[in-house]
Amino acid sequence: APGAQQFIPPQADTIDELRAAATGCQGCELYRDASQTVFGRGDESARLVLVGEQPGDMEDQKGLPFVGPAGRLLRRAVDDAGIDPGHIYLTNAVKHFRFELRGKRRIHQTPDRVHITACRPWLVAEFARLHPEVVVVLGATAAKALLGPAFRVTKQRGELLPWPASAQHPEDFARVPVDSAGKVADAQAAQLLATIHPSAVLRADDQDKAYEGLVADLTVVARALA
Ligand code: URA
Ligand code: SF4
Repeated sequence: APGAQQFIPPQADTIDELRAAATGCQGCELYRDASQTVFGRGDESARLVLVGEQPGDMEDQKGLPFVGPAGRLLRRAVDDAGIDPGHIYLTNAVKHFRFELRGKRRIHQTPDRVHITACRPWLVAEFARLHPEVVVVLGATAAKALLGPAFRVTKQRGELLPWPASAQHPEDFARVPVDSAGKVADAQAAQLLATIHPSAVLRADDQDKAYEGLVADLTVVARALA
């Protein structure tokens, strides 16, 4: 059967155990062309968890999330919003880099719904072991993974929403709070805020304005954590 679920050891208590297991995931075809699984990292007791789309080219090579240009911009925005960057946990909705080869260049491709759905058990398993007070959803892919396909970041960005009652597709989201081991996600108590992806800032016509928007949304988060 496709999907990551079969690769998740039910006895894995910690994020480190999940990360180790995820190195062997073949839950969708993305593992074939990518270099390695890029799992979440950071403070497991973090009050703030940020969820991105998928690893980029640099992340794929280094095996760590948000170490490329988008990650640098995100870190700066987190800092400018007044959030302590030492106490966050960073992860992605999809754990392998999806790309298209053009000559020697690897061009980012947005993951499809099948990849988001296949990889979602890892995200669910992470949330069952984290205890955030706020979860930041960066861009449409993360929003689809956590809030269902009908959620529109452009319409609801910057708003603190409850978890998981904010789900537009409860049937989709209903599986989030419980992982394969039947653990209830502590993240249920968290609030959630959607904003644009840092890569979208880098692509924007008016980068300064897009960056200010990202910082403004993260400032809402900083206030919620204060
Ligand atoms: N973009 C993401 O969504 N995640 C990363 O880890 C890097 C870039
Ligand atoms: Fe597994 Fe996710 Fe990688 Fe697909 S993208 S192989 S589901 S870790």
